[in-house]
Amino acid sequence: MKILFVCSEAYPLIKTGGLGDVGGALPRALLKRGAQVRLLLPAYGAVMSKAKDAGLKLLLEFECDGAPVKLWQTRLPGSRVVTWLVDIAEFSARDGGPYGDHTGADWHDNAWRFYLFSRVAELISTAQLSLDFTPEITHCHDWQTGLVPALLSRHTKRPATVFTIHNLAYGGIFNYETFASLRLPEDWWHHEKLEFWGNFSYLKAGLVYADKITTVSPSYAEEIQTPEFGQGLEGLLSHRKADLLGLINGIDTQTWNPGSDAFIPSKYTRRSLKRRMANKLALQQERKLPVNENIPLFGFVGRLVEQKGVSLILEAIKPLLAAGECQLVAVGTGQREYEQGLLALQEEFPDAVAVTIGYSEPLSHWVEAACDIFLMPSLFEPCGLNQMYSQRYGALPICHYVGGLRDTVVNFCQPQLDAYLNGSLSVSDIDETGFLFREPSAEALAQCIHRALACYQQPELWQALQLNAMHKDFSWQQCCEGYMELYRELLEE
Ligand code: ADP
Ligand code: GLC
Repeated sequence: MKILFVCSEAYPLIKTGGLGDVGGALPRALLKRGAQVRLLLPAYGAVMSKAKDAGLKLLLEFECDGAPVKLWQTRLPGSRVVTWLVDIAEFSARDGGPYGDHTGADWHDNAWRFYLFSRVAELISTAQLSLDFTPEITHCHDWQTGLVPALLSRHTKRPATVFTIHNLAYGGIFNYETFASLRLPEDWWHHEKLEFWGNFSYLKAGLVYADKITTVSPSYAEEIQTPEFGQGLEGLLSHRKADLLGLINGIDTQTWNPGSDAFIPSKYTRRSLKRRMANKLALQQERKLPVNENIPLFGFVGRLVEQKGVSLILEAIKPLLAAGECQLVAVGTGQREYEQGLLALQEEFPDAVAVTIGYSEPLSHWVEAACDIFLMPSLFEPCGLNQMYSQRYGALPICHYVGGLRDTVVNFCQPQLDAYLNGSLSVSDIDETGFLFREPSAEALAQCIHRALACYQQPELWQALQLNAMHKDFSWQQCCEGYMELYRELLEE
């Protein structure tokens, strides 16, 4: 089974969020399952410097639509995944992020950059370059690769295509001028094809033309067929529902393992859970918070965008901070209003709140290993990885009942807490792993926090919940079987 895995991020070469985690881990899992995989990735400047250490070989040089292209081969560091890097100056000759510059502004030519990337995927998929690998399946991810299934639809001899939605909120939307400049077929400017409310969308191209569409949790697969979550694409998605499948993400259990995590001061397992506390105390000290075993420590790590429900956190946690009843450690970067909101909270409660604005891989691990409760009140969440990391690390998650969060956290509810407190429920009968709330409001979050804190006051109960959470198997070994089955089905067709 030959798979071309086309993605704009893959950890550890490049990552801005969960897409990077999946782009790095899923190809490795597929390889372990016996698939032959080539990962196709843009050769961003940052990727090229990391890949140099892993070994780089120039495979080809050619022209694509007038642009000079180099194709490099490397390995995804720490794995056997053969990785091909598409090197155009628009990727490799720039500092900054994959999609924008240091100020956060999008690159002005993103449409062109990812068009070219998609064209190279098309050339490889249709054996137009002299390579020793022609895929049977081309698997694309998010808007950056949405044009690939569309471009491939024009070939009679082509691989089957799978398009995975990681986040419908990013549509890759550009105007008619851009459409015309790319010389895409004129008939694609149609509402049943790429046209989208007077513009056109790369994501929509993937949804219209891919043979199969997947998304990253069963609940999100349902939700996106409704106006509330469908971003204007709900009609198309329900029209295609026979080809739409929700497959929950796994996590990289090697990278995210509290028993061997190099980023945390005190490693621990379920059996040595006692050692976990040292991480909390060290983090409090490092982040200049009062060092205190007993005060509940909340953690947040994430992109600071509306999706992540930061404003709910700011509102819900204030009274607790004012009462000196908890601490908060937050790490994130993104929109100014949320960065400033968190910084203002820190200013108001310097003895209880420590905020890091920025991206820090080490700190993101440490927070999971140190905090008692991980906050993830996302307004919507296609899958979400942090709530899985936190369960594996014994930090109990508080999440909004939505998308992948409801599919991965088992809610310990108020009646169960009442039953525990009156003695009619014993810890041996508890399978739950965290806390969920229904309404995306600060009041509902605050209520949920109170429930969690009431549990925290019961050490035996808390430890049982932690051990349940840490016991859950979120590994890709399990999750990647769904993709393998889908590929097999496509090959049979
Ligand atoms: P999303 O993909 O929507 O950002 P996920 O929960 O799926 O959400 O994945 C987010 C990933 O990005 C996690 O691995 C998380 O640890 C990481 N991450 C997000 N923000 C930061 C940050 N500021 N520093 C370090 N890691 C971060
Ligand atoms: C997106 C989603 C997130 C998901 C990740 C990986 O960024 O926002 O929920 O976990 O992709 O699939």
